[in-house]
Amino acid sequence: MSIEAPFAGNPYIENSIPVFSRETPFYNLLNDLQTKGWSIQDDFFSTDFTQALMDEVENIHNAYMLQAGVGRKQDHQIVLDARRDYIQWIDPDKPIRKDFLRTMEALRVALNRRLFLGLFDYEAHFARYEKGAFYEKHIDAFKGQSNRILSTVLYLNEGWQAGDGGELVIYDEREPTKEIGRFSPNKGRLAVFLSECFYHEVVVAKRTRHSIAGWFRVNGTIGGALDPDQ
Ligand code: OGA
Ligand code: MN
Repeated sequence: MSIEAPFAGNPYIENSIPVFSRETPFYNLLNDLQTKGWSIQDDFFSTDFTQALMDEVENIHNAYMLQAGVGRKQDHQIVLDARRDYIQWIDPDKPIRKDFLRTMEALRVALNRRLFLGLFDYEAHFARYEKGAFYEKHIDAFKGQSNRILSTVLYLNEGWQAGDGGELVIYDEREPTKEIGRFSPNKGRLAVFLSECFYHEVVVAKRTRHSIAGWFRVNGTIGGALDPDQ
């Protein structure tokens, strides 16, 4: 079977950073999303690209990060029992951030082309879990209430060890008490899942844990007012 890679000769990327590292993880991702609604892919992006994102997040001073909350806009609350991570939303204000958003834009188009998801845009933030931080079991979007369709998490941690905690735990779609997967936040690993379908949590990290969490959204525009992000 010969399929043209949607990312071949990708026009978006500046600094000649190759987009998706190889074809296989992309097709595995498509296949997983079609068959089970979630996917974990290692080395999804090139090593250089992942490393540049790691350098970027490691250099953000805590003072420039926000205590993450629960809920959007006016419903937003800081609930320390629920989550303890610090975040910084990603804007295209530096080359590497712009490259990341453009890469995810290329992924958005590629996913729409293959899966007809109607994804409209993407929002993402860097996240830092200091030692002791966690994110209790939750769902990223409630059916009918949100426009988040597909969640992504890219992990940015060198040499994560079995005892370091901080795993992403994914629960069964139909039986949300049943754990179906537990994944370490290893450098270059990408988790993708349907936002409305899967409960998940981050167990207590025993060392600083970095990631980029993001969401592909559909357009929730009503009456000409663009639906706000974040
Ligand atoms: C989130 C989230 C999971 C992770 O930010 O909503 O669930 O593994 N993150 O970081
Ligand atoms: Mn989540």
